[in-house]
Amino acid sequence: MSLRATVSIRADQVLGTISPHLYGHFAEHLGRCIYDGIWVGEGSPIPNEGGIRLDTVEALRAINAPNVRWPGGCFADDYHWEDGIGPRDRRPRRMNLWWGKEEPNHFGTDEFIRFCRLVNTEPYICMNVGSGTPFEQKSWVEYCNYVGTTHYAELRKANGNAEPHSVTWWSVGNENWGCGGRFQPEEYAREYRRFTCYLRRTSPIPLQLIACGHTTPDWNRRFLTALNCWDLIDHLSIHRYYSRGHQTEFTDDEYYGLYAEASFVDDDIRRTAGALDDIVRGKPIGIILDEWGVWHPQAADGLEQTNTHRDALAAAGVLDTLNRWSSRVTMANLAQTINVLQCLIHTDGERFWKTPTYHVFDLYQAHMGNHAVETLIDAPAVTSTRSDGREMDIPLLSASASVSPDGKRTALTLTNRSLAESMVVKLDWIGIDAPKKVTARVLTADGPDAYNTAEQPETVTARKLKLTAAKAREAVEVPAMGLTVIEARL
Ligand code: AHR
Repeated sequence: MSLRATVSIRADQVLGTISPHLYGHFAEHLGRCIYDGIWVGEGSPIPNEGGIRLDTVEALRAINAPNVRWPGGCFADDYHWEDGIGPRDRRPRRMNLWWGKEEPNHFGTDEFIRFCRLVNTEPYICMNVGSGTPFEQKSWVEYCNYVGTTHYAELRKANGNAEPHSVTWWSVGNENWGCGGRFQPEEYAREYRRFTCYLRRTSPIPLQLIACGHTTPDWNRRFLTALNCWDLIDHLSIHRYYSRGHQTEFTDDEYYGLYAEASFVDDDIRRTAGALDDIVRGKPIGIILDEWGVWHPQAADGLEQTNTHRDALAAAGVLDTLNRWSSRVTMANLAQTINVLQCLIHTDGERFWKTPTYHVFDLYQAHMGNHAVETLIDAPAVTSTRSDGREMDIPLLSASASVSPDGKRTALTLTNRSLAESMVVKLDWIGIDAPKKVTARVLTADGPDAYNTAEQPETVTARKLKLTAAKAREAVEVPAMGLTVIEARL
């Protein structure tokens, strides 16, 4: 027996525009994310372009990765960017304070920009507030963006980059309430003013300046109240990690419990939006979720974990949430692209394989740049208690829908979270023509604990689904633990 649900696609109710940046990424100098995952060095037998491994580049290009945040994370507030430029054999070797390794500085600003250009993605740089100076950070912007003949612009040219790197996205510190300096919100507001005061004037292109926020009640309110300088801030960032049970050996309750934990993202965004609405005047400030994802306590070294189909489906639910909040959320960055936490890609020397989460990001490309429209969902639910003690109904169907700006294409993502039963989802197309031509793909697995390995890289992978336009006008059957994306031409 199949479950039954209804989704009304209210094309007349536009929620916001789904910036491609909602499907962004994060790569920090920790574990094997940068070294092995991106950087293998020019002499490596692994196919590379100037030291950057090409399998990673191709995979990220294929999903149109819109941005990559770098160099941290906690690493950022102990990173001094001038260590990472110039001849590689002369770069200093430093401690990586937070992640227990030594940093060779072989991958620095110019390598990061080259990586971004190869992937065709936008660089997003996180500055050092905790142990850096305003001059140092201003100089970083000058090195990257200035077109004249100043010391730092000339240094960039001398390092082989005649053209400016033109970096738009800059965040002023990371988790400055913790590893980024242990500031009180009022102290961070003072630092934030001091650091940002010089940045816009340094750059010939407009900058997007991002302040570090927090998910604990009141931090953002206290920070914004103390800041009270809206010309210096464009976005406020928050982070959310979650887990439930063991990474691969979890119970059914823990399977559903992960969706409950992922629902913190919705609360975080709502609370942050409330603080911005109450305090900021005269300017929209975006919300950036620049670290998110599953962080299993069993991760090896605290960082490398097995990413299952369960994790991927939970990510699909978060992307639906981001689509719904697309009028407020300006960027989001899954942690962390390669080999670390809820990565998209694993590497092991020459070996390379994609996680189930990679395929979620592949399927969600269908929404990029579209207008998010309201979806009214009527579906069965299960009860779960979240780690903060809140008992909640977890709908067995997660969905979001979007329409292209020219009104000619619709994208619909439907996740049937049921472990055992397929779901027949009745589709009501409201305020829009029913589709004339559809394509559909589905991501499912034999079990929620399924994952890909170097030997079996396609245990969990997306496949085409046969669906006619006539059928899509009425209903679609989504398999148990299945994510279906329907792209329709109207
Ligand atoms: O992503 C791993 C770490 O988690 C980041 O360095 C830090 O910002 C967060 O606490």
